[in-house]
Amino acid sequence: MTILSTIIFGVTALSFLEPINAHKTVLGRPNLHWGPKTPGHQFPHSPKRHKTCYVPSCHGSGRHGKNDDAPEILKAFKKCNKGGVVILDEEYTIGSPLDLTFLEAVDVAITGSIKFTNDIDYWVKNSFKYDFQNSSAFWRFGGKDVNIYGGGQGLIDGNGQAWYDAFAAEPTLLRPILLVLDGLKHGSVTGLKMRNSPDWFNLIANSSDILVSNIDIAVKSESKNPAKNGDGWDTFRSDSVVIQDSHVNNSDDCVSFKPNSTNIIVQGMQCNGSHGISVGSLGQYPAEYDIVENIYVYNISMSNASDGARIKVWPGTDTPFEPGLSGGGGAGYVKNVTYDTLYNDNNDWAIEINQCYGQSNQTICDKYPSNMTISDVVFKNMWGTTSTKYDPKVGTLTCSSTEKCINIAAHNISVTDPSGKTPQWICTNMDESLLDINCVSADS
Ligand SMILES: *[C@@H]1O[C@H](CO)[C@@H](O)[C@H](O)[C@H]1NC(C)=O
Ligand SMILES: *[C@@H]1O[C@H](CO)[C@@H](O)[C@H](O)[C@H]1NC(C)=O
Ligand SMILES: *[C@@H]1O[C@H](CO)[C@@H](O)[C@H](O)[C@H]1NC(C)=O
Ligand SMILES: *[C@@H]1O[C@H](CO)[C@@H](O)[C@H](O)[C@H]1NC(C)=O
Ligand SMILES: *[C@@H]1O[C@H](CO)[C@@H](O)[C@H](O)[C@H]1NC(C)=O
Ligand SMILES: *[C@@H]1O[C@H](CO)[C@@H](O)[C@H](O)[C@H]1NC(C)=O
Ligand SMILES: *[C@@H]1O[C@H](CO)[C@@H](O)[C@H](O)[C@H]1NC(C)=O
Ligand SMILES: *[C@@H]1O[C@H](CO)[C@@H](O)[C@H](O)[C@H]1NC(C)=O
Ligand SMILES: *[C@@H]1O[C@H](CO)[C@@H](O)[C@H](O)[C@H]1NC(C)=O
Ligand SMILES: *[C@@H]1O[C@H](CO)[C@@H](O)[C@H](O)[C@H]1NC(C)=O
Ligand SMILES: *[C@@H]1O[C@H](CO)[C@@H](O)[C@H](O)[C@H]1NC(C)=O
Repeated sequence: MTILSTIIFGVTALSFLEPINAHKTVLGRPNLHWGPKTPGHQFPHSPKRHKTCYVPSCHGSGRHGKNDDAPEILKAFKKCNKGGVVILDEEYTIGSPLDLTFLEAVDVAITGSIKFTNDIDYWVKNSFKYDFQNSSAFWRFGGKDVNIYGGGQGLIDGNGQAWYDAFAAEPTLLRPILLVLDGLKHGSVTGLKMRNSPDWFNLIANSSDILVSNIDIAVKSESKNPAKNGDGWDTFRSDSVVIQDSHVNNSDDCVSFKPNSTNIIVQGMQCNGSHGISVGSLGQYPAEYDIVENIYVYNISMSNASDGARIKVWPGTDTPFEPGLSGGGGAGYVKNVTYDTLYNDNNDWAIEINQCYGQSNQTICDKYPSNMTISDVVFKNMWGTTSTKYDPKVGTLTCSSTEKCINIAAHNISVTDPSGKTPQWICTNMDESLLDINCVSADS
């Protein structure tokens, strides 16, 4: 038995490191499977690649004296597109925008590191811009059949400190997202370390059949200015996305489902310091219709967060929230969302439903119920202990009107508060017959 498994292990390990010449070995593509929960079909298979393209780093002295490996990286993607592997095994610096949305059947093996320059004035002018929430990108991947993998070793570094400091002085600063998938049909991102993004870490937009696995995210400011808005992942206009088996240490959403996220699974995650796994925010833009449907969040360990499970939608009228961020009045729906098996460790709220996001004035919330309907939501199998912040309250399920929240259920919830008092849940405009928790009113 032992000998047999050693042989099998040996064979697997060997096939992972395919010798290319006497000195170089290539990191092989990992097994790409999603599970245990799936969006109803298997992750599609990618054919074997048959050529490799190495990228020489300029080591700080690129063309015209500019410290920028982007042109060489782009060259390699053009050469190895349609059936090759681009190998990034050195230390690279990216100092200009890189549009990789033309890809087809290509793998990207990252065992080196990729760091973005922190020339803020340059990036504010030259990053890719998106209307959605004023987002922007250093680089973006799109096309079809693209696998980006790092074997637990590859590093993408946002070099965010200068951005955290500049943002503290300029709250509307347009900060790029670390990794954007835009229009990628069938792709994976696995085995990578991601550090210090200026803004969100990952945006998955206009994409489908995406697997994300074994990602290690951490953000840390060395100054008094905290890193802000460092969401782990945001999904937008995307279908069949699985995000699994990853660690996130940040101070905003661990994962967030933005408008038109459908058939999304998040499982096996360990999140620390975040704002939880969030639906939304939605209903921000009056001219748009937002849908979040068929979401399964499973097997999550959530620590030191503001929330465990969260659903946040804007009120029924446009209101200002923060500099550069306002919204409300947009219509749409959230439907068929399940949070199953979630451990709470020192989170302020184990569950939060908020239909008046960005607005603290209750008079306005009551006057303009949200235009978003939330239905068929289940919270089940949750345990752990919340933080002292709202003790003995451990959750809040607050709808703007009874017509806007339909069939929201909670069962097998054994979350406790640190004081050991009977835990209380604020329930407003909810059908309490479906909630197997100790509901109290907001003013109790
Ligand atoms: C998604 O696709 C739309 C329509 O093609 C495009 O306008 C937008 O820039 C794309 N990306 C994002 C992040 O919205
Ligand atoms: C996690 O984030 C917190 C808050 O930003 C930071 O203090 C801590 O050092 C981070 N941990 C790691 C491992 O980066
Ligand atoms: C839950 O996730 C952890 C990783 O956080 C993993 O080790 C464990 O196998 C998962 N359990 C199930 C039942 O999927
Ligand atoms: C988890 O987050 C808390 C709060 O931000 C932080 O103090 C702590 O260092 C983080 N833990 C790790 C392992 O990074
Ligand atoms: C979401 O999808 C619906 C239905 O296809 C569409 O009407 C709406 O414009 C989409 N919204 C966004 C924000 O893309
Ligand atoms: C609800 O979502 C789950 C998981 O995403 C999916 O398996 C199920 O088919 C959906 N139910 C309906 C009625 O669409
Ligand atoms: C939560 O935060 C506390 C205090 O900062 C820290 O000791 C603990 O390790 C954190 N939990 C995790 C899982 O990082
Ligand atoms: C984008 O930023 C500009 C400038 O700060 C601001 O006026 C605008 O409201 C923002 N748009 C959105 C949708 O938040
Ligand atoms: C809340 O909004 C109402 C209606 O717009 C306004 O009259 C009231 O002054 C506001 N209250 C606070 C505390 O801002
Ligand atoms: C949005 O909600 C507001 C307040 O309830 C209402 O006046 C408005 O007609 C709604 N708009 C849409 C598009 O449903
Ligand atoms: C209730 O949830 C706990 C986790 O807190 C889980 O171990 C247990 O199996 C669940 N019970 C049922 C009946 O599903």
